[in-house]
Amino acid sequence: MKGVILAGGTGTRLYPLTKIVNKHLLPVGKQPMILYGIEKLRESGIEDILLVIGAHSAGLYAQLLGSGKEWGVRLTYKIQEEAGGIAQALALAEGWVAPGEPVAVLLGDNLFEDSLSGYINDFLQQGSGAKVLLKQVSDPRRYGVPVLQGGRIERIVEKPADPPSSYCVTGIYLYDGSVFDIIRTIKPSERGELEITDVNNAYAARGQLTYAILKGWWTDAGTFRSLHDIADFLLKEGRP
Ligand code: DAU
Repeated sequence: MKGVILAGGTGTRLYPLTKIVNKHLLPVGKQPMILYGIEKLRESGIEDILLVIGAHSAGLYAQLLGSGKEWGVRLTYKIQEEAGGIAQALALAEGWVAPGEPVAVLLGDNLFEDSLSGYINDFLQQGSGAKVLLKQVSDPRRYGVPVLQGGRIERIVEKPADPPSSYCVTGIYLYDGSVFDIIRTIKPSERGELEITDVNNAYAARGQLTYAILKGWWTDAGTFRSLHDIADFLLKEGRP
């Protein structure tokens, strides 16, 4: 299985830090944010990784990561010309992921403790469809929130004013080979982006969206508070 890390976008919530460097190159504890996702994929046996990045800081990515050899992976880079949404960024992986092959997708600002191996095995046994990983959070309004019904996801609501559950859909997604066909069917949202939630809802509508709940810690490091807190936590734990 191949892996994709989405590290485009503008990082407006971290401005002005992100004026000079892309969000996923900012330090988190002892290393740049992007390395956490790379390590998670490699530790689950995924060594072929596509990084979708913006043109901003592209040279710095090459300088930091190169071919990926130092990190035990093979890296390919694609440039997302404008921040047109998470699903638009994922669409750039079509062709690099062989037709019909499944793919593991991470949002580059999601940091977490669990190993992905068990979830990936469960997903591969599932045979088709998609799987998302959930985490209970105190502030679900910041995220995609699932409507859970009888052990499955009925649908996901993106950043709801009135959250239907206390879970968030994390930025860890496992898709079958039909994901690129699905992306072609979705339309930009009100904020003008191709939303990953619409992709996941297409699977949910077919009854093909399964989920698991992360056991360990998880964070979206995309705000000053969460970026600070996770760095502090990792340093206190003595982790890289
Ligand atoms: O962190 C989990 C949440 O991530 C989910 O619960 C939401 O359903 C999902 O929409 C997403 O919400 P965010 O508001 O946190 O997404 P954000 O715009 O911060 O983008 C997350 C990552 O996706 C970011 O680290 C880089 C990548 N990205 C984003 C955009 C908009 C791209 O590669 N290209 C893009 O155009």
